[in-house]
Amino acid sequence: MRRTPLMDQLGLTLPVIAAPMGGVTGGWLAAAVSEAGGLGIVGAGYGDLDWVRRELDEVVRRTTRPWGVGFITWSLARRPEVLDLALAYRPAVVMFSFGDPAPFVDRAHARGALVFCQVQTVAMAREAVAAGADVVVAQGTEAGGHGARRATLPLVPAVVDAVAPHPVVAAGGIADGRTLAAALVLGAQAAVVGTRLYASAEALAHPRLKQRLVEVSGDMTERTRIFDIVRGLNWPAPFTGRAVTNAFWRRWHERPEALAAAREAVAPAFEQAQAAGDPEEGLLWAGEGVDLVRAVEPAAVIVRRMAAEAEAVLAALAAPGDGGTPSA
Ligand SMILES: Cc1cc2nc3c(=O)[nH]c(=O)nc-3n(C[C@H](O)[C@H](O)[C@H](O)COP(=O)(O)O)c2cc1C
Repeated sequence: MRRTPLMDQLGLTLPVIAAPMGGVTGGWLAAAVSEAGGLGIVGAGYGDLDWVRRELDEVVRRTTRPWGVGFITWSLARRPEVLDLALAYRPAVVMFSFGDPAPFVDRAHARGALVFCQVQTVAMAREAVAAGADVVVAQGTEAGGHGARRATLPLVPAVVDAVAPHPVVAAGGIADGRTLAAALVLGAQAAVVGTRLYASAEALAHPRLKQRLVEVSGDMTERTRIFDIVRGLNWPAPFTGRAVTNAFWRRWHERPEALAAAREAVAPAFEQAQAAGDPEEGLLWAGEGVDLVRAVEPAAVIVRRMAAEAEAVLAALAAPGDGGTPSA
C-alpha cells in the first residue's frame, strides 16, 4: 500500500483507522485493526470508568502496535478523570470529538500522545488547530452515529486547504476500497471507518444488530435526536445522530417534544429492546456507507481488503490510457 506521512509518523501499513465508536470499539476491535497495520481507537463514549479500564486492559494485552482512545469532548468536560485514566495506558493517539478540545489537549501532549480532533465544519477545523490538534478528522454527514450537516466529498478538501500543513483524516461513508481511495484522492492521509467495522466479529455489539447492518441500505438512515432524547442525553447543537430508521423512529421522529415529555414511560422498553438487540425498537447507529456492508467479518479481513482494493483503484486510475472503471 502506498504510504502517507501520517502513516509513517504512526508506523501504520494501512491508511485505515477504526472509529472510536462508544461502547462498540473495545480493546478487541481496536487491537485487531492495529495488529492488521491500521490504527484502532477505543471508543470511551460517555466515560464509564470501569468500561474504559477493562477495554484498555484488553487493548494493551492484545497489541504492542500503536492504538488510540477517543472521547466525546462535551461529556469529558463533566468527567475529566477518565482522560487521566486513559493516558496512564500510554495511547499513541487521543481523539476528541464533539466539543471544545482546548482544556484537554495539553494533558494528552504531556503524556506523548498525538492529538486528533474530529470536526464537522471548516470553522471547527481551524479552531481545532488553534487549540493544538496535531491531526484533523473531517467528518461528513454520511457518518454513522453523531455528526453534523456537511458532506464528506466537499468538506475533506476544504479542511485540507484550511489546516495545511496539518494532516487531515476523512470520516463518513468510507466503507470499501473505492471510498477509501476517494478519501486519499481528496487529500486525506487516512480514513476513519465506523459503520463498516461495526459489522465486524470483534465489535462489541449484539449479533442481531450486526446482522441488521448487512440487510439495510443507506437509504434507510436518517439524522435524528430522538435516540438521545430517549436515553436522557443532552447533546449540544449542532450534533445529531445518524441511525437506521425503524419502528421506534417512525413513532417519534416527528414528535421529539412529545418523546421528551413521555421519556420516563418510554425509556424502560427502549432499554430492554436495546439490550436484546432488537433493531426495530432499539437503536442502530449506521452511516450511509452501510450499503457496502455485505457480511460480518473479522476486522483484519475488512481493513486489509479495503486497503488492497483502494490500491488497485488508485493504480488503475493512474494507468496511462486506461479510462475504464476498476472493479472493486
Ligand atoms: C456505532 C457508532 C458509534 C459511534 N460513537 C462515536 C463516539 O463515541 N465518539 C466519536 O467520536 N465518534 C463516534 N462515532 C462516529 C465515528 O467516529 C465516525 O465519525 C463515523 O463512524 C465515520 O463514518 P462511517 O460510520 O460512515 O464510517 C460513532 C459511529 C458509529 C457508527
